[in-house]
Amino acid sequence: MSGKKERFGSRTAVIMAMAGSAIGLGNIWRFPYMVGEHGGAAFIVMYLLATLLLSLPVFITEVTIGRRSRKGAFSAMSELHPGHSIWEFVGLLAVIVPLLINSYYCVIGGWSLDFLLRSCAASFVRMSPSEVTSVFSQMSSSRWEPVVMHLSFMGISTFIVAHGVKAGIEKFSKISIPALFFLIIVMIFYSVTLPGASEGLKYLVKPDFSQVNGETMAYALGQSFYSLSLGMGAIITYGSYVHKEEDIVVSGAGTAVFDLTFAILAGFAIMPAVFAAGIEPGAGPGLIFQSVPYIFSSMGEEVPVISAAVSFIFFLAIVVAAMTSCISLIEVGVTFLGEKFNLSRKKSCCLLFVLCGGLGIVCSLQPSVFDSLDWFCSNVMLLVLAFCFVVFAGFVMKKEDVREEITNAGAKPLNVRLFNVIYFQIKWIAPIAIAVILVTNFIL
Ligand code: PHE
Repeated sequence: MSGKKERFGSRTAVIMAMAGSAIGLGNIWRFPYMVGEHGGAAFIVMYLLATLLLSLPVFITEVTIGRRSRKGAFSAMSELHPGHSIWEFVGLLAVIVPLLINSYYCVIGGWSLDFLLRSCAASFVRMSPSEVTSVFSQMSSSRWEPVVMHLSFMGISTFIVAHGVKAGIEKFSKISIPALFFLIIVMIFYSVTLPGASEGLKYLVKPDFSQVNGETMAYALGQSFYSLSLGMGAIITYGSYVHKEEDIVVSGAGTAVFDLTFAILAGFAIMPAVFAAGIEPGAGPGLIFQSVPYIFSSMGEEVPVISAAVSFIFFLAIVVAAMTSCISLIEVGVTFLGEKFNLSRKKSCCLLFVLCGGLGIVCSLQPSVFDSLDWFCSNVMLLVLAFCFVVFAGFVMKKEDVREEITNAGAKPLNVRLFNVIYFQIKWIAPIAIAVILVTNFIL
């Protein structure tokens, strides 16, 4: 998808491409530990509400801006509203934020790669929960292992972007995403039958709203944006490839449903195992690496070979899902360096590898830097950028232009009827809600 004239061929292609960017570590690694840190079922309810009420309009907005301008994140807004440097600045932030995210995203990609290699050696078969937990703590506290894995993961992803061999990885991800889906369902069955798993199920389905506060809402909204790749210009860029005939509302809703389902399934696969293994649900970013191998170890009690094979395929699928997301994060930077500084694809990749790789090493060795960067990007910057995008569509773009995109110039009768509701969400509900959440949590 590099040429500007290229368009997605069909609705399924649009939804699959967007779901491919959306489904990644955000669903499998980040969602379960966010649920664990922020109150279980009550967080899930907030997350569902955030997706329906706010992420969906933001999604529609980003596709609208992308399709209208036919430009990537950096120049889309200044193309639609030339001569105002503020929108160029917003575009620049929409390039910087994904690169910051990429730096620590690859650290988790590196952990997944590490666990993939361990799966090759059937390491998790018949391990006790405490042995499983110690594998992760030893690995993540080692000074060299996570760094080597992180650089390898980032190196492979950057190499792919540099050579533009996207066809291969895209074909591969078409197999790996359904495989991951299937495996997660298999794992749910194993996970819920572990002794002590029922506590985990209760934790996921019985909301305790006394746990909800402004901070929970900010985290739920941040998670929803992160998971749907919103608030960083990625969907604007994808939107520029969406065909004129395509129904933006249906594509947005389809992608959101895919993404939500994936995250919730991952929660159901992981949380019962967390409780069964006696791990603290708020254990943080290492949660899936401490709990998932316990599912494999219990599978291994009956047939070790199957357990080793399932764990290998599972981590391979995670590495591939993470890599396809990582590739689209790097691509944002490469496109920007090419457009703005005329830098070749290879040179851009080298530069980004050095910058993101260096920052990633710091994140890998300093958990506090990792946490702060994730917090700053996901809970502050994604919200700030999403706010800018909806304000741009609601107040800077002409209402008629937005209507033309959302209703395909009147060709989609349902969207014509829904337009006023969607527009009201874009122009008023989304900016006000995002601003209130941002200001009450992070500015006051
Ligand atoms: N949405 C991806 C995930 O859930 C992360 C991502 C964001 C990927 C933006 C690409 C662009 O893992």
